[in-house]
Amino acid sequence: MGGRVLSVASECVPLVKTGGLADVVGALPGALAPRGWQMRVLIPAYPGVVAQLGAVREVWAADDLFGGPARLLLGRVAGFEVLALAAEHLFARLGGPYSDGSGDFRDNPERFAALSWVAAEIARAGDGDGWRPDIVHAHDWQGGFAPAYLRYRGVGVPSVLTVHNIAFQGIAGPERLAALRLPPEAFSPEGVEYWGNISALKAGLVAADAITTVSPRYADELMRPEFGLGLEGVISARAGVVQGILNGIDDAVWNPESDPEIVPYAARALAGKAQNRARLVAEFGLGEVAGPLAILVSRLTHQKGIDLVPEAVAAFLAAGGGLCILGAGEPWAEDAMRALAARHPGQVGLRIGYDEGLSHRMFAGGDAVLVPSRFEPCGLTQMMGLRYGAVPVVAAVGGLADTVIGASPASLAAAAATGVVFHPVDALAFAQGLRKLSSIYADRAAWGAMQRRGMKADLGWGTSAARYAALYEGLVRG
Ligand code: ADP
Ligand code: GLC
Repeated sequence: MGGRVLSVASECVPLVKTGGLADVVGALPGALAPRGWQMRVLIPAYPGVVAQLGAVREVWAADDLFGGPARLLLGRVAGFEVLALAAEHLFARLGGPYSDGSGDFRDNPERFAALSWVAAEIARAGDGDGWRPDIVHAHDWQGGFAPAYLRYRGVGVPSVLTVHNIAFQGIAGPERLAALRLPPEAFSPEGVEYWGNISALKAGLVAADAITTVSPRYADELMRPEFGLGLEGVISARAGVVQGILNGIDDAVWNPESDPEIVPYAARALAGKAQNRARLVAEFGLGEVAGPLAILVSRLTHQKGIDLVPEAVAAFLAAGGGLCILGAGEPWAEDAMRALAARHPGQVGLRIGYDEGLSHRMFAGGDAVLVPSRFEPCGLTQMMGLRYGAVPVVAAVGGLADTVIGASPASLAAAAATGVVFHPVDALAFAQGLRKLSSIYADRAAWGAMQRRGMKADLGWGTSAARYAALYEGLVRG
C-alpha cells in the first residue's frame, strides 16, 4: 500500500533547526518514500526559508489567515517537497522560530494555530496543486491544533500526533478561543481546555487518531506524573493508541567513513579517530589530555542536566580527562559553562553558539559524549556518539535508556555494552558513571571493543520507518 502524508511542523532540516525535531521532520520523507508514502512537509516561511527552496510555485492564497494575508509556496529541498506558509504578519520576524531573544513571541499560539489551520484546510480541499493527503502527521504542540481542526471542521482525514517533547505545550488564555478559531464546545476537559487555559498539545492529544512519541521508554514515562508534566492522565486515557517509535539518524549525514568535516575512519581502523582527536584538542586549545576526552553538544538548559556538569566532572578532570563543550541556551547555563572552562584552562574548552560543522568534528574527535538529561524523549547526540565511536555516558531516561546498553560486569562479559548509563539523574551518579568510563578507557582492549560495538549498532531509520508506514496503513484502512 502507501499514500500521501502531510507532515506539519515548526522546524525541518535543512531549512530551519533549533533541535532534534528538525532532524526528524527532515528525515521522515526520505525514510518513508521507499515504503510508498509520499510526504509533503508544511512549515512556516520564516525569513530565509523560501530562498533555500529554489524555484517555488504559489499554490494557494487566503486574504485573512489569523489577521493577515497568506500564501502557500510549493518547493523542493533535499529530495522532498515542502509547502512553505508565507504570512508576513505571523512569520516575517527577526530571531528564531519562537522568540527574538527577549522572550517567546506572545502570539505563538496564534502563529502555529494558523499553520495547523492550513494543514486541516489542505486535508479538506487539497493544497491547490491537486494534492490531498490520506494522513495528517502533526509534530509537537505547534502542530497540535491540526487534529483538533480536522475534528471540529468534520474533515475525515486521519491524524497522527508525535510528541517530541511534552515540556512545551502551547498554552493560551481562555479569552483567545475564538481568535484561535475554535468553537465554544472545544473549551472542555474532553477538548482543548487545560487547567482553565487552552493547550495546543492537549488539543492534539485528545483529537488525534494515533499518538506516537520518539522512544518506547518515553511512551511509558509520559503516563507517569514525573514525566507527564500534568498531561499523564490525558495520555493514559488514550493508552490504546499510543506507541513509541524510536528516531533514527541519517546515515548519509552521520557517517565517519564519508563525513567531509573530518579525517574519515572506520570501526575496524580507529587510528583515523586518533587524528581527529588530536585536531579537536588543538581546535579547542587544550593541552595534552591523558584520560578520555569527553564532549558535550547540547542545548544548555535544565532539561539537559547542564547544572549537574560542573560538580560531576570535577574528579574526572582531576584524573586527567578533558572536556569540549558546544552549546547555547539559558543564560545561567552558559555562565556555568564559562565558569567551568575558566577554572580548567587547557582542560575544558568552550564554544557558545550553534555550529553544525564543529559538532561533527567533536563526535569524530571525542572519546565520550555526555548526555545527563533529566528527561530525554529520544535524544540524537548519544546516537551520533555511538556512530562515531564517542562512547555515550547517559542518564537512564527515555530514548537514552532505549539506545545505549550500559556497562556492567555482565554486559561487558557478554560483549554487549555500548556505553555508560547512570541513575538517578544527579551529580553523584553522573560522577560515578564518569569513573566507570575512565576505568574502561584504561583497559584498551575492552575500550576498543565497546567503541566498535557502538559504531556497528543499527541506528538508521529502517525499522522505525516500517513502523510509521504500518501505523499509516492501519489508519487509512480504518
Ligand atoms: P533536543 O532536540 O532536545 O535539543 P536532540 O538530541 O534530539 O535534543 O537533538 C539535538 C540536535 O541538535 C542534534 O542534532 C545535535 O547535534 C544538535 N545540536 C545541539 N546543540 C548544538 C550546537 N550548539 N551546535 C550544533 N549542533 C547542535
Ligand atoms: C525533542 C527531544 C529530543 C528528541 C527530538 C527529536 O527535541 O527533546 O529528545 O530527540 O525532539 O524527536
